[in-house]
Amino acid sequence: MSISKKRAVIALLAISSLIFTAACGDGGAARPNTGNNQDGSVNAVSEAPAAYRNSCIGCHAADLRGNVGPNSNLQKVGSRLSRDEIADIIANGKPNTRMPAFSKQLSEEEIQELADWLAEMK
Ligand code: HEC
Repeated sequence: MSISKKRAVIALLAISSLIFTAACGDGGAARPNTGNNQDGSVNAVSEAPAAYRNSCIGCHAADLRGNVGPNSNLQKVGSRLSRDEIADIIANGKPNTRMPAFSKQLSEEEIQELADWLAEMK
C-alpha cells in the first residue's frame, strides 16, 4: 500500500469514528421530562408512546394535566371518551379548539397506539 493510500485510509477511519461518536453522543439527551409528579399522581408519561412525547406533551403536559386550559386535561379521558372517539380526535382534531389534527403527521399505527394508551386513563 502506498503512503498516500495509507493516509487516505487513516483519514477515513478517523472521520467515521468521529461520526460514530457524534451519533452516540446524545444518547439520553433527547429524553424529555418523564413525568415524575411531585404529588405522586399519574406518572403516565414514562409509559407513553414516543408519539406522545414528540407531538402532544407541549399542550397536554407530562402528567396529562394539560397546559392549554381545563379541556386539555387528559388524565381521565378514557372515562369520557371511547377508544375510537379518542383515535378520531387525534386524527382529525377538534374543530374550533386548539386541538390539531394529526393524520398527516402521525402514522395510523401511532394514532392507534396513542388511542389505546389514552383509553386506559380513567
Ligand atoms: C397545540 C396544542 C395541542 C396539541 C399539540 C395537542 N393537543 Fe390535544 N387538545 C388540545 C386542546 C386545547 C384540547 C381541548 C379541546 C377542547 O376545548 O375540547 C385537546 C383535546 C384533546 C383530546 C380530547 C379530550 C376531551 O376530553 O375531549 C384528546 C384525546 C387529545 N387532545 C389528544 C391529543 C394527542 C394524543 C395529541 C398528540 C398527538 C394532542 N392531543 C396534541 C390541544 C393540543
